[in-house]
Amino acid sequence: MALKLKDMSLLVGLCKRRGFIFQSSEIYGGLGSCWDFGPLGVELKNLVKDRWWKSMTLRQDVVGIDAAILMHPLTWKASGHIDNFTDPLVDCKACKSRFRADKIDIKEACPTCKKVGEFTEPRAFNLMFSTQMGAVVDTSSTVYLRPETAQGIFVNFTNVQQTMRKKLPFGIAQIGKAFRNEITPGNFIFRQREFEQMEMQYFVKPGTQKEHMEAWKETRMKWHIENGLNPEHLRFKPHGPDELAHYADAAMDIEFLFPMGWGEMEGVHSRTDFDLKQHELFSKKNLHYVDQQNNNEKFIPYVIETSVGLDRHILALLCDAFEIENEGKGEEERTVLKLKPQMAPIKMAILPLMKKPNLEEMAEKLLNDLGKHWKCEYDDAGSIGKRYRRQDEIGTPYCLTVDFDGLEDQTVTIRHRDTMKQERMKVDQLQNYFKDHLM
Ligand code: GAP
Repeated sequence: MALKLKDMSLLVGLCKRRGFIFQSSEIYGGLGSCWDFGPLGVELKNLVKDRWWKSMTLRQDVVGIDAAILMHPLTWKASGHIDNFTDPLVDCKACKSRFRADKIDIKEACPTCKKVGEFTEPRAFNLMFSTQMGAVVDTSSTVYLRPETAQGIFVNFTNVQQTMRKKLPFGIAQIGKAFRNEITPGNFIFRQREFEQMEMQYFVKPGTQKEHMEAWKETRMKWHIENGLNPEHLRFKPHGPDELAHYADAAMDIEFLFPMGWGEMEGVHSRTDFDLKQHELFSKKNLHYVDQQNNNEKFIPYVIETSVGLDRHILALLCDAFEIENEGKGEEERTVLKLKPQMAPIKMAILPLMKKPNLEEMAEKLLNDLGKHWKCEYDDAGSIGKRYRRQDEIGTPYCLTVDFDGLEDQTVTIRHRDTMKQERMKVDQLQNYFKDHLM
């Protein structure tokens, strides 16, 4: 089934109009491929993070950490990022535009200024952002903004294993910012220069990596579907032998059908013992695991990594949820974000039918009672129809309307976002109803 969202600009417009996502430093004209999450965006982000964190750490074999963004520069020498984390780059000498050499034909005209024969020779461009640490600016104080969260996990392998007395197989999970000086960023929050990753490294006995990779592949696909993504818009895409990263012996992407086509949302990688071995070599510290159940056998574990871009998962949720019903039919047209109720930033809107003291009093009491448990929005401005439409656009699954009949019999109208059906319910039944429908 094709996506209902045909054009990303419709979603970009909604995200700005309704407080999900703004361009970074917009008042200064923006900053290339950096985005700010507004009040509704950050709610959605926190919901996704919370679900991911629970899905990882509410199991006995995975623990979490939160490592620093800045790491010892040798980390990146050991991991291969200083030498290998590059894209081939060409510049147009005429208009100074910059392109990835593997994405354009350099014999053709420059896509920006249309001049032919102006491209420089391709050169390797490192995607890491560097900065200076301390007061003295020399090369010895160069540090990098991490391009992936994974290395913070690898360098803490022994700390975590020993302090938490973990036996193989076990995993370490982390959520955090990553930075890449992407040459051709774009497609809204799909490719950014600052983004967030949710990564888990699962340490296993060498030789068992295939079975663990299979299991994690399935677990991770299930997670995306449980968050509300349409299974028809998801697929596995294995990396061919010539596409594998320098550290991997197998890799599988989970792709989503974005409006611009299929794109990677998560990578499940079999990273061998590459990273731990390299860190052992560069740090000169012993990172072997001692298998006490097996005659104290010593070895470097293999690693299965699951790495999902938080922003890309959010983009997928928004793309899948976006729908324009009755397009072009005037008053009947409505834009709806059909997010799964559990993923909606605002769970319910409380709407007094009119600005009358007794209706407002009852509505405020509802807000007090329900707002302790769920994120609610109170709105008393404008016609009830317009208020419903606004809530539809931000994906609020339930609108509770307080009217004069309700004052008499202590009921409210619940209006459902997707069907627009309305039902009356006793106020004292609401808590249980929402516990059943939102937990
Ligand atoms: N530790 C492995 C790793 O970083 P990756 O495939 O480069 O692997 C993992 O990145 C995930 O991070 C991707 O599947 C994607 O969702 C997200 N990601 C990577 N680069 C991104 C960017 N520039 N903007 C937004 N998300 C990005």
